[in-house]
Amino acid sequence: MGLRQVTVAYAPGKIILVGEHAVVYGRPAVAVPVTQVRAQATVEDATTGQGITIVAPDVDQKLLLGGEGGWPSEDPLARTVIATLKYLGLSLEQDLTITVKSDIPIARGLGSGAAVSTAMVRVLAAHFSLELSPQEVSQLVYEVERIHHGTPSGIDNTVIAHERPVYFVQGQTSQTVAVRRTLRLLIGDTGEPSPTKGVVGAVRRQWRRSRGRYESIFDEIGEIALRVRRSMEEGDIAEMGRLMDENHQLLRELDVSSPLLDSLVGAARDEGALGAKLSGAGRGGNVIALVTAERLAQVERALLSAGAERVIGTEVPPGGEGTPAMEISENLARSDEDAV
Ligand code: PMV
Repeated sequence: MGLRQVTVAYAPGKIILVGEHAVVYGRPAVAVPVTQVRAQATVEDATTGQGITIVAPDVDQKLLLGGEGGWPSEDPLARTVIATLKYLGLSLEQDLTITVKSDIPIARGLGSGAAVSTAMVRVLAAHFSLELSPQEVSQLVYEVERIHHGTPSGIDNTVIAHERPVYFVQGQTSQTVAVRRTLRLLIGDTGEPSPTKGVVGAVRRQWRRSRGRYESIFDEIGEIALRVRRSMEEGDIAEMGRLMDENHQLLRELDVSSPLLDSLVGAARDEGALGAKLSGAGRGGNVIALVTAERLAQVERALLSAGAERVIGTEVPPGGEGTPAMEISENLARSDEDAV
């Protein structure tokens, strides 16, 4: 019996530091990878004639591609496999078992969907000894993200595929951010889902009603993202914290916060966080607090006693050149009028 080839690949989570929602309307946002949690994809050669099986034990899913089940292109896992094999110029007639696992909490603004897709794209390329650039991975994952999110900005796939802090503007060349001083972040999970598509849709409806007001909030958020990027490059973490606080207030004005998110943010600040805000789509999901090494333990305890279900600590190390990271291809751009 021949050896069965087994290939494994991973992808981290991500968190938006500043700029969520406004990024959907063309303003910049800054996001960083979260390497403490990750998605894992494994590909194993299967018995001849078995076809492609996708197994996702975390969500109790088992999918057989081809045969009677056909090619379910609306299923994100199936779509990832189909799109990747096609992109790699490979036949869909393969005998493979693909297993997906992830310890990234789902629907909490940590990019679990994009991370799972990224790990799958990477593992398929690696299994067939083919190379994909981070930009190609990002593009493929974006196509899959559209199923989950309707019209995602593209920030998740960009940060996760590149695994670098990114200054992101939809439809433009994103840039990695050179970080001068270590950023210590605590991510407090409310335990409540934050359904991105629904919250983005709610913001869109409000924007249609009060366009002028929403546009000026988005402008302010965009300005904050620009200044956060600068403070990361200059190592001015106190300034960065203040800007995160301001961003939270603007997100409240967009009506995407919640009483629990507000109280977690308040608890973190009371215990000496440099800044805190909700992160991601909001109404649930996570808060993010920027902390010093000295206050880290206190802030973590405060988040838990204010009702966080779990706290994930992550560090963004200094480094990076601030190089242009990637061309975001044209089809990532979309008009403001796109329905969500
Ligand atoms: O909740 P998340 O991390 O999936 O982020 C949503 C971020 C938004 O700006 C609200 C939407 C988007 O597509 O960028």
